[in-house]
Amino acid sequence: MMTKIKIHGPQKIDGVVQISGAKNAALPLLAAAILSDEGLTLKNVPPLQDVSTMLSLLTSFGATNHIKQESRYAMEVCIKTDSIDSFVAPYEIVKKMRASILALGPMLAKFAQCKVSLPGGCAIGARPIDIHLKGLEALGAKIRLENGYVHATVPSGLRGMDFTFPLVSVTGTENVLMAAVLAEGTTVLRNAAQEPEVVDLANCLNAMGAKISGQGTDTIVVKGVTQLKWTTYTVLPDRIEAGTYALAAGITRGCVDLVGGNFRELLPAFTKTAEQAGLVFEDTNDGTRVKFGGEIVPVNFETGPHPGYPTDLQAQMMAYLCLAKGESQIMENIWENRFMHATELLKMGADIQLGGSLAKVRGVKALSGATVQATDLRASFSLVLAGLAANGESVVDRAYHLERGYSRVKEKLAGCGVEIELMG
Ligand code: EPZ
Repeated sequence: MMTKIKIHGPQKIDGVVQISGAKNAALPLLAAAILSDEGLTLKNVPPLQDVSTMLSLLTSFGATNHIKQESRYAMEVCIKTDSIDSFVAPYEIVKKMRASILALGPMLAKFAQCKVSLPGGCAIGARPIDIHLKGLEALGAKIRLENGYVHATVPSGLRGMDFTFPLVSVTGTENVLMAAVLAEGTTVLRNAAQEPEVVDLANCLNAMGAKISGQGTDTIVVKGVTQLKWTTYTVLPDRIEAGTYALAAGITRGCVDLVGGNFRELLPAFTKTAEQAGLVFEDTNDGTRVKFGGEIVPVNFETGPHPGYPTDLQAQMMAYLCLAKGESQIMENIWENRFMHATELLKMGADIQLGGSLAKVRGVKALSGATVQATDLRASFSLVLAGLAANGESVVDRAYHLERGYSRVKEKLAGCGVEIELMG
């Protein structure tokens, strides 16, 4: 396992990056395989730690899988689910990845029972699952919490209903949506998450035979069906990975061709903020070109559910704004504790003031290399970005977080003329 990344700055990004399939689309899609009578084939699955963890969860239920390498950056995963005979998501797996909770909805819909270890808190916030459970209960599940586990059963079938999410939850929407697909009658999900990853899940479920409409709006309507069939589906490209490399081009005053999707369309709020902050976006035949426009301009923004500015690109934008000409203000509205990268950026000479969910970032002329500690996946990359722009050597410690969500970082950066050293 990689634990440290060493970077000699400053370096400049100039080249092409193949964007992988989206982690946060692949995880619910893998869980959706449970709903099929036979299984599911997914293409463009990113080679990531979190994907391996979801596959080991499916294996622990009794499913089998076959992986074919499509390219350096993509896998075809064929999952057979007709041999599932265990209904427990154990603590050892759930503690590694909170998205394990995505198995609950499909397991209940298909097998009327499931026991999932409670995920507990994590670095970026409390991350409760109360909304997932409320939605599943409204469909007819009976749930009790005992000995750190969610014990869920469906005593007399899932039934369609009208449910309003008390707040917008991405995996909450995905979990209840997956359960509703096999429920009897029509389910209406209001205040649903509108993220492209939710749309990708709904589209895949429809390809499997589900009857879902309204995905991508705040109201999703599901007409229950009795069974889903095997299909082959290609995972959406990773807009968060794309936005991260766009900011790598920005902070190093370079240029990057993001290949694999129209990232201006997938990232409307990010693109608007990044344009204000000095980046230039252009559509290309196979993706989006992002160039540094000549000046890092301070900008104020707040994170919010899609189509708002994604919280998963907040840390990386903060690193970029550390070098702006003036003060930027960032409001983090999704996670209560997602500014831990800020204190690390201070070690590199940044000027950031934190107050609750507001960060004031005053631009400095230059950052200087330092040893810093990664606290979560997106924070890790924000420190790599700062290291690429800083003068001198930086070491990002606890860099294993990065491997959960960014595939082949060293290789992708090397393709843009940038060198980093991974240390065990
Ligand atoms: C998803 O997490 C993503 N993970 C996160 O990606 C992302 O940061 C987040 O959505 C927001 O965009 C996956 O898709 C696998 P939420 P999720 O439920 O679904 C509160 C990354 O770096 N809430 O939309 O867990 C919660 O505390 C990550 O790739 C409840 O109160 O996020 C938060 O404040 C990290 N009760 C807010 O809702 C609940 O039952 C939104 O969280 C559920 C959530």
